[in-house]
Amino acid sequence: MELRGKTIAVLGGKTGLLGQALVKALTAAKAKPKPLSSKDCDIVDPGSVERVLNKIDPDVLINAAAYTQVDLAEEQEEVAFALNATAPPLLAAAAARRGIPFLHYSTDFVFSGNRTTPYTVYDNPGAFSVYGISKAEGEKNLIALGYDGTLIIRTSWLFGPDKMNFVKKIITLATERNTLKVVDDQTGSPSYTPDVAANSIKLLEKDATGIFHLANSGTATWFDLASEAVRLAGLPCTVEPIPTSGYPTPAVRPAYSVLDLTRFIQTTGETPRHWKDALKEYINQEKDS
Ligand SMILES: NC(=O)c1ccc[n+]([C@@H]2O[C@H](COP(=O)([O-])OP(=O)(O)OC[C@H]3O[C@@H](n4cnc5c(N)ncnc54)[C@H](OP(=O)(O)O)[C@@H]3O)[C@@H](O)[C@H]2O)c1
Repeated sequence: MELRGKTIAVLGGKTGLLGQALVKALTAAKAKPKPLSSKDCDIVDPGSVERVLNKIDPDVLINAAAYTQVDLAEEQEEVAFALNATAPPLLAAAAARRGIPFLHYSTDFVFSGNRTTPYTVYDNPGAFSVYGISKAEGEKNLIALGYDGTLIIRTSWLFGPDKMNFVKKIITLATERNTLKVVDDQTGSPSYTPDVAANSIKLLEKDATGIFHLANSGTATWFDLASEAVRLAGLPCTVEPIPTSGYPTPAVRPAYSVLDLTRFIQTTGETPRHWKDALKEYINQEKDS
């Protein structure tokens, strides 16, 4: 589908880390994004979704809204499941009634992490955390609904402008402290939100449906990502590796959740740039602002 001139409803587009990047990328692609917050449209309320979609009359519906507080989800199971598991099929059904594409985002945290080779789109979820289980349930519900205009993009370890994220947190802490201890036994795929957004548009333009994995190329531990960010920012802070046991959190995160990008590369003919190149662009832009 050619997106130029198309009206695109972006849930999470006003305040979300990825949603805001999507709105910028869609604007750059000459589409007409309609960013929506929870105040404009509550995704757990079908009446609210219908009213907003009737008003906007979009050509594409994108769901970048979710419950994303991984640790808090352990004690807020009900709200996590309402947003991440129950809402997605309601949104897909609304898109199906209109015959428009539905793009939904999921996460590497749907995987258990009990392996050391990249997860393909054919691998089965097996999350340990409430957040991961709720996101996997959302995927399962979308597949059960069976709307063939559904595209599910699993992404991971997001960093980018306009909202607090891991890299921004590290840079802030590194300006205040001489040393930082960061977990070095969880490995994943860092992803720059402007790259994920631009590459999501490439999939929509190819009329892709089903499950795709989308991240930057390369793998890292949180320690690798933090060290590179501090180095690029030129801050005099020492980053030290620690095991997960040295930084206990309520939610169990996968020890390994690298995403295999083969399906994206084969479908679009493009390979996402390395996360280190994307991180350099992000840090330089943050320095300038
Ligand atoms: N962040 C990551 O590292 C990461 C990694 C892998 C996958 N993902 C996935 O990528 C997607 C985007 O994540 P993100 O980090 O960009 O999320 P985020 O910054 O936490 O934003 C979540 C968005 O959801 C909206 N929202 C919350 N409750 C809502 C409701 N009831 N109705 C409508 N909107 C509601 C929020 O809007 P309000 O401010 O108006 O409430 C906010 O804009 C999610 O599916 C997430 O699971 C994220």
